Amino acid sequence: MKTIKVLTVCLGNICRSPAAQGILAFTASQYKGLKLEVDSAGTAVFHVGNSPDPRSIRALAEQGIDISMQQARQVKEEDFQQFDWIVAMDAANLANLKAIQPAQSQAKLVMFGAYQTGVSLGEVADPYYGQEDGFIRMREHLTVISEHFIDHLMSHD
Ligand code: 4NP
Repeated sequence: MKTIKVLTVCLGNICRSPAAQGILAFTASQYKGLKLEVDSAGTAVFHVGNSPDPRSIRALAEQGIDISMQQARQVKEEDFQQFDWIVAMDAANLANLKAIQPAQSQAKLVMFGAYQTGVSLGEVADPYYGQEDGFIRMREHLTVISEHFIDHLMSHD
């Protein structure tokens, strides 16, 4: 079985993309016939080396998903060669990734929510400056998006 490598990307790599990594890997593990390897990164440098935001860790722990061991890193050029998919959490992340995408990039670079039917942009709202409830909404949104993304992989990849 082919392993599909996916990199989830947000701005700081402490709120949304670590949660997306955990939820996508967990969701994929429930599907037979699909092997995903998932990592995450941020477009910005300011949280490099940090653990995920405690609010993201708590929101996912409620669902039995442990992301506490993750460490933030910045997107690097090799990512565009090493991953089959690079999925951005919002339009700004996508624009920043397109700006640094090397010409010979192999990765499919898209908005993570692009495969969620009925949602125009599929952007995952940044919960960083909000309260705990925003992290629960983020978790629920990422869960739906992960299922739609996996459906797409199962039917197209
Ligand atoms: P993330 O959220 O991109 O989902 O990790 C943010 C984390 C930190 C900051 C902004 C967004 N910040 O400005 O420090």
